[in-house]
Amino acid sequence: MARVKVLVTEVHAGEGDRLAEALGSDNEFEVVAYAQDGLDAAQAAHRLHPDIALLWEDLPGVSGLEACEVIARAAPNVAAVLVTRGDAHAMQSRAMMAGARLVVGEHELRTLREQLSELGRQRQNTTQDWMPAVTDPGRAPVVYTVCGGKGGVGKTTIAVNLAVQLARRHGERVVLLEMVGQLGDAAILLDLSPVHGLLSLAELPSVDQEVVRRSTYQHESGISLLPVTSEHPLNEMPLAEAVNVELIGQVLGLLKRQFTAVVVDCAFTAWAMVSYISKRSHVVMCVTTMDDIVALRDASVMLELLTDSGVDKSRIILVANKYRKGAPLGPEDLTRVTAWEDPFLIFEDAKSCIAAVNEGVPLVVRTPTAPAAEAVARLAALAAEKGRQAATTGSTRPGVGTSNAK
Ligand SMILES: Nc1ncnc2c1ncn2[C@@H]1O[C@H](COP(=O)(O)OP(=O)(O)OP(=O)(O)O)[C@@H](O)[C@H]1O
Ligand SMILES: [Mg+2]
Repeated sequence: MARVKVLVTEVHAGEGDRLAEALGSDNEFEVVAYAQDGLDAAQAAHRLHPDIALLWEDLPGVSGLEACEVIARAAPNVAAVLVTRGDAHAMQSRAMMAGARLVVGEHELRTLREQLSELGRQRQNTTQDWMPAVTDPGRAPVVYTVCGGKGGVGKTTIAVNLAVQLARRHGERVVLLEMVGQLGDAAILLDLSPVHGLLSLAELPSVDQEVVRRSTYQHESGISLLPVTSEHPLNEMPLAEAVNVELIGQVLGLLKRQFTAVVVDCAFTAWAMVSYISKRSHVVMCVTTMDDIVALRDASVMLELLTDSGVDKSRIILVANKYRKGAPLGPEDLTRVTAWEDPFLIFEDAKSCIAAVNEGVPLVVRTPTAPAAEAVARLAALAAEKGRQAATTGSTRPGVGTSNAK
């Protein structure tokens, strides 16, 4: 492992060596510069990019605190550590306000090595993992929710194929999150046999990245699945009520550290949950069929619930699935009932859909030129564009953005 580069300072002769000695001699740290005043230290931090700058509080000219402040701006990757002659604890808040990462008392230099190792580890962990999600607009995570006001309208079919398409054609690192209310269908569509899932997480006192990883299954298409599954037999499964919004918030947050696209297959079971997830989503696909007037009305209610709860209209796509030309009801009827222009149409394509389910191969992989597969591919392109734009330019706060909500 690369050695940690340290800049040391001294007010009185020999103090730089004292700090260097406190760092130990086992090659973990390498002293790259000595500085005798605060200005000198800040210049060296800017020029040499050490990992850590050890600054005595009473450096002449520019003090240790002032040097912390200027280093935080001029060389933000350098961790400024203030060494105080007095009580480190009492100095804590002033030092933190100046941008120091740590305060060490002169009388506890024997713990310096240990504290700096910990600081180095923390910094490495943080930056490695999710830094690109912050600095690279192309990797800002996008949350897509697929929901609907009615069962059996094609939510899981669309969510699975959307996820696969986002991974294969749009270069996203995708996880499909199956919400409670779904019964594990996503795993069947992907021919996976998961053991743990969201309901397993609900049994733990707390969730962290490691347990979420253990419940996430990789599919050969490139996507990962966090299924609803629990390792218990169906009749002993923990209750879906155990999955609350706090857990979902935590899981969503952890998935966003690791993936650039989170696709949520969200059944209409508990409205509080659907609303919670939708408000945190960059794109919400509200799926309906146009079989009968009930389907149209349910779509209308769902859209109203979404917009009333603060989901920006510009983030919603109304998807009319299983469309048949010549059917008694069509897109004009859907628009009349919902007041929603231009629903996104997906043709009925029972042959391809049934074969895809039975073979456990997603539609967009098995028969990419089938009408339903082509439509989902277009939907993925539309959603990806909307999602990336929302994730890089806007906040998910309700009402922020280019709203033209009713
Ligand atoms: N465009 C389509 N053409 C024909 N059949 C379709 C289409 N989309 C989905 N289906 C079929 O409709 C059925 C229900 O789909 P799916 O399970 O995706 O719905 P769902 O909304 O997730 O249902 P649930 O509410 O039970 O979770 C499945 O048999 C699926 O293959
Ligand atoms: Mg489903």
